[in-house]
Amino acid sequence: MSVVLFKRYRMERKLRWLPAVPDLPPGYFWVPWDRAVLPDHAEVHYRAFSQELDAQLFPSFADYCGCQLLLQNISTSPYFLPQATWLIACATECCGTVQCSSFVAGQGTIQNVGVVPAHRGKGLGKALVLQALHAFRQLGFHRAVLEVTAENTPAYQLYQSLGFRTVQTLYRAPSP
Ligand SMILES: CC(C)(COP(=O)(O)OP(=O)(O)OC[C@H]1O[C@@H](n2cnc3c(N)ncnc32)[C@H](O)[C@@H]1OP(=O)(O)O)[C@@H](O)C(=O)NCCC(=O)NCCS
Repeated sequence: MSVVLFKRYRMERKLRWLPAVPDLPPGYFWVPWDRAVLPDHAEVHYRAFSQELDAQLFPSFADYCGCQLLLQNISTSPYFLPQATWLIACATECCGTVQCSSFVAGQGTIQNVGVVPAHRGKGLGKALVLQALHAFRQLGFHRAVLEVTAENTPAYQLYQSLGFRTVQTLYRAPSP
């Protein structure tokens, strides 16, 4: 049986110089991490990823319960960084999520960033990544890392535009 492998880039960025976190567009606001907002992160994650390429690599992304379990696993891990995990919301709903951890001393990992389709193209993805990078720097970290699927052009361009550079190419099989 043949398995489809997904080409992924590991990207890194030093944290010495960072652009400021942009003001959010009118009507949007930041929501810091709290256990009470775990279901909101899970819902935004589901709505942002369920129809996207990454849901083929991580089948749990295509299922709301799977996203809830993922958020539970991330947020109860000893590597979780609540300071770098944020939601963006507006009056009617939550619209964007970034979730972060630190697996290596001095290094922050952006695990997931997602914006609900109706709210894309307004600078929320960029704001989420920069908010996480500033939190990493406040923690004294020197480097940010992430992985992105090579064909995910919006995400790849977002990271490139923020100074991330590809340091490794990986081929990953879909999670069971
Ligand atoms: C990737 C994602 C978070 C971008 O969110 P967004 O709020 O639309 O992004 P922004 O409006 O902040 O755009 C910032 C930059 O990203 C890049 N970008 C965003 N959408 C793009 C698109 N459709 N095509 C090409 N580049 C794009 C551009 O460089 C853009 O800068 P510009 O507006 O100056 O051209 C969003 O598309 C998403 O949630 N995708 C599904 C989940 C996902 O794949 N997440 C990444 C996993 S690694």
